[in-house]
Amino acid sequence: MSGKFQAPKGVSEYFPPRSNLFSHVVNKLSAPALAAGYELIELPVFEDTELFTRGVGESTDVVSKEMYTFEDRGGRSITLRPEGTAGVMRAVIEHNLDRSQLPVKLYYRGPFFRAERPQAGRYRQFYQFGIEAIGSNDPYLDAEVIAIAYKGYQDLGLQDFTLQITSLGDAESRSNHRIDLVKFIAGLKLDEETKARSARNPLRLFDDKREEVKSQMDQAPQLLDYLNGESSENFEKVKQALESVGIPYQVNPKMVRGLDYYTGTTFEFVHHGLGAQSGIGGGGRYDGLMETLGGQNLSGIGFGLGIDRIILAMEAESVVPKDLKYIDLFVIPLGSAAQAKVFSLANQLRNAGFVVEQSYGDRGLKGAMKAADKSGARYSLVLGDAEISDGSAQLKEMSSGEVVSVTLDSLAQTLAEKVKI
Ligand code: HAM
Repeated sequence: MSGKFQAPKGVSEYFPPRSNLFSHVVNKLSAPALAAGYELIELPVFEDTELFTRGVGESTDVVSKEMYTFEDRGGRSITLRPEGTAGVMRAVIEHNLDRSQLPVKLYYRGPFFRAERPQAGRYRQFYQFGIEAIGSNDPYLDAEVIAIAYKGYQDLGLQDFTLQITSLGDAESRSNHRIDLVKFIAGLKLDEETKARSARNPLRLFDDKREEVKSQMDQAPQLLDYLNGESSENFEKVKQALESVGIPYQVNPKMVRGLDYYTGTTFEFVHHGLGAQSGIGGGGRYDGLMETLGGQNLSGIGFGLGIDRIILAMEAESVVPKDLKYIDLFVIPLGSAAQAKVFSLANQLRNAGFVVEQSYGDRGLKGAMKAADKSGARYSLVLGDAEISDGSAQLKEMSSGEVVSVTLDSLAQTLAEKVKI
């Protein structure tokens, strides 16, 4: 068989020029996390399947319908990570990161895999930027985590989004709510599969998209009304902390996150320009996760931000910066002596901190100038035999066409003045 290959269905891919936007987004999202002391954690994209069934929860769509699970050559059940938190927790426990200074503050970014029905903004391989802060239940840490995401979105120029928050409370609050919720659900008309699902986690019914279930759930008891004294005090502190730094939010008591480990503060950032796949990020606290995965009983909080959807949101809001590929100088050699000279000149300038491209092959002056233009370089310089013997050349500003004569020895200095490095 011959013929071309295509990427597997439903994956997101980034190549130039859009990949420049991808790295811009990652850098802007990382900066506020770095500013708050989070450190990189780089983990495998596949783990033991049980890490996710136990950690994320079997009642979730993610685990029950969307995992890429396979047997490896050693007969082990392996799953491509559908999310990042369970893997981070596995690594924290395995490598004893929770035995020193707490909270452990980590960030990660990379591909995640969910076998969902592909559509705009929903992919089978997608990218997240995430942070996790493990080992403190201080409500100000909740606010820190939310503030980091918010700052990232702001620095990317996004405006048309809303932060929704709620609290799932502590174990006591949840169990009081659960008693009433289970009673309420027992009185509903549901099919067997839905009943079985709600028996595993009754909160899942709040997330059901079917109209007949949604309308029945309208009157269901809300968890927010069941928070005990400590839980509601914590939630108040989180809200006040957000207000104190000017972060607007909307309390959404009906919010249900798609993963089972959440407790306490949970949140979602919803963008208004994306249609159905509007969640550009979400997260929350997970009090029992570490113990569930065999570690000590420490609380944690974090988020995962969807890089693909953030890019779509930036495009929808027309806030994509223009000059994401930045080149200071494009050098064009004419003739073989010039090729050797340009190679070493470009190398020297790059080592001095400039971004330099050069033309290759014998494409002639016209073709090379076209390439210089296309590259988006701010300046260009043509080097032929005459320039080499003179030791000087014409430095051209591409936007204005203005030309100045420079000696090759002072090129780095002249360029530094012009591009201000
Ligand atoms: P999540 O809400 O499942 O949370 O995913 C976080 C974000 O990833 C979503 O808001 C969305 O932007 C993006 N996302 C999810 N699925 C897809 C998809 N199929 N295609 C494109 N983007 C998608 C988590 O994954 C948690 N681990 C977050 C967290 C960290 N909670 C605590 N710590």
